[in-house]
Amino acid sequence: MSKRYTITAALPYTNGPIHIGHLAGVYIPADIYARYLRMRGKDVLFICGSDEHGVAISMKAKKEGITPKEVIDKYHNIIKNSFDTFGISFDYYGRTSSDVHRETAQEFFKTMHANDCFETQTTEQLYDAKENQFLADRYVVGTCPKCGHPEAYGDQCESCGSSLNATDLIEPKSALSGETPSLKTTTHWYLPLDRYENFLRSWILESHKSDWKTNVLGQVKSWIDDGLKPRAVTRDLSWGIPVPVAGGENKVLYVWFDAPIGYISATKEWAAQEGKNWTPYWQDKNTELVHFIGKDNIVFHCIIFPSVLKAMGNYILPQNVPANEFLNLEGQKLSTSKNWAVWLHEYLDDFPEKQDVLRYVLTANAPETKDNDFTWSDFQTRNNSELVAIFGNFINRVMVLMRKYYDSVVPAPNAHTNADQATITELAAAPSKIENLIEQYKFRAACQEMMQLARLGNKYLADEEPWKQIKSDPDRVATIMHTALQVAAGLAVLSEPFLPHTALKLRSMLQLDGNLGWENVSALLLIPTNHKLGEATLLFEKVEDEAISTQMIKLKA
Ligand code: MF3
Ligand code: ZN
Repeated sequence: MSKRYTITAALPYTNGPIHIGHLAGVYIPADIYARYLRMRGKDVLFICGSDEHGVAISMKAKKEGITPKEVIDKYHNIIKNSFDTFGISFDYYGRTSSDVHRETAQEFFKTMHANDCFETQTTEQLYDAKENQFLADRYVVGTCPKCGHPEAYGDQCESCGSSLNATDLIEPKSALSGETPSLKTTTHWYLPLDRYENFLRSWILESHKSDWKTNVLGQVKSWIDDGLKPRAVTRDLSWGIPVPVAGGENKVLYVWFDAPIGYISATKEWAAQEGKNWTPYWQDKNTELVHFIGKDNIVFHCIIFPSVLKAMGNYILPQNVPANEFLNLEGQKLSTSKNWAVWLHEYLDDFPEKQDVLRYVLTANAPETKDNDFTWSDFQTRNNSELVAIFGNFINRVMVLMRKYYDSVVPAPNAHTNADQATITELAAAPSKIENLIEQYKFRAACQEMMQLARLGNKYLADEEPWKQIKSDPDRVATIMHTALQVAAGLAVLSEPFLPHTALKLRSMLQLDGNLGWENVSALLLIPTNHKLGEATLLFEKVEDEAISTQMIKLKA
């Protein structure tokens, strides 16, 4: 039986829409991986959904003068629709406000509580007397004790990535009233992370020291070396999942306790809908669990959630957590509050047919090993001189010449020259190059290998110049076109994880058999003689200067 994969992409907070930073860091790489594995015949479950609890949501509701429920419904729909239109191939898109999720998260808490996996602590916590509100997480802002960043939150500093307790902040201020908080006593449940230190060290820093990304290992090591401390998993808030044990009245689960469990609840909902059993996807040792996240989520996915899964006992742990660094925009940090972003739903309105262009640019520039920059001028160049001038040009030439010379019926090849042979050899080698890179989460390089194939085809035609030989040597032209078509078909297959809309169009232009898959490319079983091609359509269009200046003006407005 084929191997099973559970692939998760970080559940976006429903306090704002999706932007290119989210796409480049999490959703595009996850989608490439999921599509690729499906093409290899694996049993893939690709899960995502809305993260609808936490202070981020209640703050947004307060700011907009609406209820948290209105906020999550609004953004859940915007986000879900934009992912759909963009073509992220989730098998299920859940939400943490669902009943199944509340029950699942409460079940986790109750089980862990019953098994003495928590400690309670009664401590003085920051309190905003004016707002009658305990201040945790994003309700409190102050200076990071680790790096001095002046706008660290009560649970995390987004500048250095440290995970914090609200009382660690220097000069804390309430994000609600701006006042300096007072202290008030309260009791909470804590997950004693210190109990998991040995497990985490040997599982991650030993067992995975050579297959996890260095940026991830580096962060994990520094947290562990810093000394893991008990971490509160409950909050004195009203928006969230009620704490389901005695003493939990008026308290909710910490959003980072419930959110990752959302992957599991979404799996349950998906399984119910499909009439399947959810447990193998989370409990069978033959399942590979992979979490796609941004670097600000590393501690939660590598330390806290695995400790929860370990405490529960019967769950698998992630095989890998390929976290990416951040994407900047025109040299500046993306910022939702400063509206310095390219929003997915707006991009789709402005460029309704260009999903794959954005996918391509964000993959070519993915922040895999360091922060990277998106610029509109790079977007234009990559479209015009790569997608249009190489990929599109090659396919267009093949289609036009085939129609002109052969009425779109594939001619039989004659003797191969060295150039033909070299081209075919390179085509046959492409799948294994691409698969090795994808399996190491090197999507940028994998996408470049795919483009290399388009380059190969384009150069082959430019070198062989069939248009100059059609009168003098039609036998030679038959071989050239037969060969070029094999490359075109190879591209239709191998581009699918990266450029799914393009691959679909290309398959229909070439009238490829629906069963033609990844393995056919290296076997060179692609397009037979006498096969009839379909109609040519344009794969990529030039992006004009005007479209780019419109985007720049919009950005600066
Ligand atoms: N909402 C979080 C963020 O945007 C990610 C949650 S991932 C999950 O940073 F694991 F909690 F689901
Ligand atoms: Zn910091």
